[in-house]
Amino acid sequence: MNIPSWIQYFERNRTSFEEPPLDPDASPLRDGLRLPLAESLAVFQLGETGGGTRLMRYVRRTLRHQPDALEGYDLAVRLFVAEEQRHALLLEKLVIYLGGTLLQKHWTNTVFRQLRTLLGMEFNIQILLTAELIAEAYYGMIYRRTTDDAVRTCCHKILRDEMRHIAFHTNFFQERLARLSRPLRSLWRLGFRICHRVTATIVAWDHRRFLHSLDVSQGEFIRLTLKAGQRFLRRLDSSSSSWQPEVSLRSRQKASQLATPG
Ligand SMILES: [Fe+2]
Ligand SMILES: [Fe+2]
Repeated sequence: MNIPSWIQYFERNRTSFEEPPLDPDASPLRDGLRLPLAESLAVFQLGETGGGTRLMRYVRRTLRHQPDALEGYDLAVRLFVAEEQRHALLLEKLVIYLGGTLLQKHWTNTVFRQLRTLLGMEFNIQILLTAELIAEAYYGMIYRRTTDDAVRTCCHKILRDEMRHIAFHTNFFQERLARLSRPLRSLWRLGFRICHRVTATIVAWDHRRFLHSLDVSQGEFIRLTLKAGQRFLRRLDSSSSSWQPEVSLRSRQKASQLATPG
């Protein structure tokens, strides 16, 4: 895993986005789409607000076993968490721009946080990865199916970042799984598939009103997210562990364009 290039990427990406004007209640979208979109984005906003405490605990534990191979990884993860927090800020503005209300609490957030605590670190990181893959499908879908330029610009920015996050995690898991025995690797993949499918189904059901307003069925959304999961597993099998941020972005952009509807 080329950790210095990821650190460089996260540092450079901090200032690469020019935010569009997001005056409160200024969206030209029709109410039938604007309000469900605001409601749905508010749930994603809440999901992006975490401080990364559990993740950092996992990272510290992993680093104890692989200190040489993962030198600098904790800094890269801190920069990654900071990028997610910038997404939370951007989504906060977007929800207000759309005339929505920010959430302090939501049942999916509470359930996933409790599950992550109950089921241990490895499951914790799988849920995080699953959230990234769902985000790829979700923001890609909004980007391609809405006509509001401010919404599309913000979703495009988050989509680009999320695709790089997936590449970042893929690099990490390539290193990690290479150290496991074949049966344990198969078990990990099975756990990931189950976790991904269950999470995608819950998210599709929870956001059904918004999906309906976009004319996307829950099944279609689940298929889209599962495709993102399959792409991730294929990447994981790839022998190349020197996957670079920029190269991975170009290939994933192409994949995402093919996978998103519209
Ligand atoms: Fe994010
Ligand atoms: Fe992310």
